[in-house]
Amino acid sequence: MAAASETTTYTVDYMPADLPGPKAKALVDRDALVMAPMGRVYPLVVDHAQGCEVWDVDGNRFLDMTAGIAVLAAGHCHPRLIRAAQAQITRFTHMAGTDFYNEPMINAAEKLVALMPGGAGWQVFFTNSGTEAVEASIKLARYVTGRQNIIGFYSSFHGRSYGSLSLTASKARQRRGFFPLLPGTFHAFYANPYRPPLNTSPAMVTETCLGFIEHTLFQTTCPPDEVAAIIVEPIQGEGGYVVPAPGFLRGLREICDRHGIMLITDEVQSGVGRTGKMWAFEHEEIVPDIVASAKGLGGGMPLGAMIARESLTRQWQPGSHGNTYGGHGLTCAVAHELLVMVEDELMANAATVGAHLMAQLEGLRARFPQIGAVRGRGLMLGVEFIDPASGQAAGKLADAVMEDAFHKGLLLLTCGASTIRFCPPLILAESQADEAVERFAMAIAACTL
Ligand SMILES: Cc1ncc(COP(=O)(O)O)c(C=O)c1O
Repeated sequence: MAAASETTTYTVDYMPADLPGPKAKALVDRDALVMAPMGRVYPLVVDHAQGCEVWDVDGNRFLDMTAGIAVLAAGHCHPRLIRAAQAQITRFTHMAGTDFYNEPMINAAEKLVALMPGGAGWQVFFTNSGTEAVEASIKLARYVTGRQNIIGFYSSFHGRSYGSLSLTASKARQRRGFFPLLPGTFHAFYANPYRPPLNTSPAMVTETCLGFIEHTLFQTTCPPDEVAAIIVEPIQGEGGYVVPAPGFLRGLREICDRHGIMLITDEVQSGVGRTGKMWAFEHEEIVPDIVASAKGLGGGMPLGAMIARESLTRQWQPGSHGNTYGGHGLTCAVAHELLVMVEDELMANAATVGAHLMAQLEGLRARFPQIGAVRGRGLMLGVEFIDPASGQAAGKLADAVMEDAFHKGLLLLTCGASTIRFCPPLILAESQADEAVERFAMAIAACTL
């Protein structure tokens, strides 16, 4: 891969200096005065970045397994995306896609439609974020069905606006202080094979979770003929990089078909090649009615999209939904180039290097009993930490490993109760995956031995 091979391979002899360095510390102090509290996980202050590497303001180098929360599909500052941005920025940047036409927006939408199942019969509404893509999706589902209720899943994350937050059920603190939320939202159980809900077994988890919707939810609190949509992450992201048990997504598709319900897949974190296929729902060979996308889609530019069956979007009247920045010329020019790269090379690289990284992480599981599970697809991989004696989630250990890895020049993020996620740029080279695993192992050893 061009971009990956341009990066330097560092041996683990290289370690950052004491962190935070003086320049980083001064900026962290300034930030505290003017930025609303965010919950930063460690004091990384970025100066510049290239490919899968980031340098902080004190000159320390880090290997980036976060890609800015699963965003930078082509890595940092990819020359092809820079060229696309440079070519567009001198022509025009923004002209409001809601009110005017522009070619970069149409190019990006055409490419997105071509990358959907069947390659036709879909339409796109561009947004600026994943949250807004989810909002557009649930508004469209309500509009076309004339029904009010939406079902989401425990441990899911869909964003923090009132509509999307009402479906988010990842961490109680994300909802605390914000009630009442959107009426008409319900939650069901995700078929997590590692931690099966409802006292079921891994073998029965799909059947139990689908049965809960049909036999409990629909029979007691939520009549199916009043449900507009079921929204599901094909792999739960913020909830812990959980791949659902086989048959779960297919079962949801069948429930939706039986009751005239729209199936929305939230591909904000899992989509755009990250799992080795364009969309994670393709692994179960289902086709949803509406897809919410963002993160990787913009290649680092803030872009989201709702992609829906044309038969649905055509029902919206002009003015039913809109925004100012959707279809932003500069952002869409970069997104189009990114999508070409995803189709041509990044998806395949995510599958190949993802399998390699998974095997290396599995190797660590054999070494450290504190690793309870390694799971995921492509370059969306999670490592769940446990207390080996009880099997309980070990959240503090996961946090400690993440923090220690930072001091060892490796950028990681946690998710769920006790999982460390690997969501690097899709250009990752095997040598970089090996370096990441080596630094990760050193951090686990430092926190456990
Ligand atoms: C699956 C999923 N949906 C929606 C969102 C919200 O996206 P954004 O933060 O771009 O609004 C996220 C963000 O992490 C996500 O992971």
